[in-house]
Amino acid sequence: MTSTRTRRIRKAVFPVAGLGTRFLPATKTVPKEMLPIIDKPLIQYAVDEAIEAGCDTLVFITNRYKHAVADYFDKAYELEQKLEAAGKHEQLELVRHVLPPGVKTIFVTQTEALGLGHAVLCAKEVIGDEPFAVLLPDDLIWNRGPGALKQMADAAEENSCSAIAVQDVPHEMTGSYGIVATQDFANRRGRITRIVEKPKPEDAPSDLAVVGRYVLSPRIFELLETTTPGAGGEIQLTDAIQRLLEDEVVDAYRFRGTRFDCGTHIGLIEATIRYALDHEKLSDAAADMMRNALVELGVVEIS
Ligand code: UTP
Repeated sequence: MTSTRTRRIRKAVFPVAGLGTRFLPATKTVPKEMLPIIDKPLIQYAVDEAIEAGCDTLVFITNRYKHAVADYFDKAYELEQKLEAAGKHEQLELVRHVLPPGVKTIFVTQTEALGLGHAVLCAKEVIGDEPFAVLLPDDLIWNRGPGALKQMADAAEENSCSAIAVQDVPHEMTGSYGIVATQDFANRRGRITRIVEKPKPEDAPSDLAVVGRYVLSPRIFELLETTTPGAGGEIQLTDAIQRLLEDEVVDAYRFRGTRFDCGTHIGLIEATIRYALDHEKLSDAAADMMRNALVELGVVEIS
């Protein structure tokens, strides 16, 4: 058994070429990744997490309708001039610092939405022969300490292996996730022995579900090139990872933090509530507003 993962990740891939059908009609014009939690779009949270983990090259896999993502990370000359002229220095700093200095963005087009595995394969030339991260921005991970990717990247570097973020899910929910079987699980990680995409509860090898953070060996590209469409007729990253297990070590990593599935309505609402209640300026007002709404709507009674 060999492993090619010995170096620290520097490049992060953000697959953002999906259709976002669960948020139609909003996603008719606004990409799902640009939906905000308070005042930052989902993509900004994922980018911040990648930069914190040490990435300086951000690779976005987009499609021809997602100009908003590229525009967001581009310089906004006119807006900056107007903010400067109006003396709005705080806002000017926010607009200028969506990316810190020295961080590079690269946009690659996925011409057809053939699946997450195919989207990752589109990054092959840009990544080359080094380990890299994949972050799905609609999985938002909230943590007061280090971000999930930093935790994983540290663990993967220490173990010279690939790593996939996992969380425990209710057994009846396995059909909504990639599910892993592991061995020797201790100190938040275990070696993956099997990974299955969306198994029925009776077929699921465990309740450990894959969450949208990966540290991957570049060997995954060769495997993706020969991966045929799987679940849902899509080229699945999970299927290529199952083949990666045959000749490299891939760890499951149970991160510290709370994950919100912002690809669903309830997940986006939950994340908004959590970030509002944790917000230094908004938390009191948000808590009052929620309490009042619950009482007014008769959801809870106060005696
Ligand atoms: P999802 O299936 O959650 O995203 O894909 P979606 O297709 O945009 O959403 P719905 O189900 O229609 O509402 C997981 C991630 O993979 C990306 C998506 O953008 C999302 O970040 N993806 C998916 C691609 O980049 N390309 C694809 O072909 C498929």
